[in-house]
Amino acid sequence: MTKRHILVIHGPNLNLLGEREPRIYGRLTLAQINGELRKFARPTKTRLRIFQSNCEGTLIDFIHENRKWADGIVINPGAYTHYSYAIRDAISSVDLPTVEVHLSDLTKREKFRRISVIAPVCIRQISGLGWKSYIKGLETVMTHLGSL
Ligand code: DQA
Repeated sequence: MTKRHILVIHGPNLNLLGEREPRIYGRLTLAQINGELRKFARPTKTRLRIFQSNCEGTLIDFIHENRKWADGIVINPGAYTHYSYAIRDAISSVDLPTVEVHLSDLTKREKFRRISVIAPVCIRQISGLGWKSYIKGLETVMTHLGSL
């Protein structure tokens, strides 16, 4: 059976995209980015479940609750990227191909952002393409699943 169910997960502070530090994160709102993701997914018949939370446990619960439905994950863990072993464990526990995405280029920012504790359990990290990092992330998961 073709695998076409993908979770798109946005971590803390990403609900403020559009108004939050636009020089770093761009001017698109989260709703607009989600719209672009749905537009990209639609012709391929891929179904997305998109979720945002500012809470670590809520993000983990979402991963757990959707683990049987999902074939893959695209996640921007926000600042949790740099220290959440709990989110890392959630991803490795559900054993779904996961791509970590970031709007900004982590290699060109503060030192603490250069470390990702999530990346080792992901098939790829994509950063620095603005909102298109999400599209590239979705494309990468879909290609991995053979649905593109
Ligand atoms: C971010 C980068 C993180 O360091 C930061 O804490 C974010 C956004 C990005 O998309 O560039 O919240 O994940």
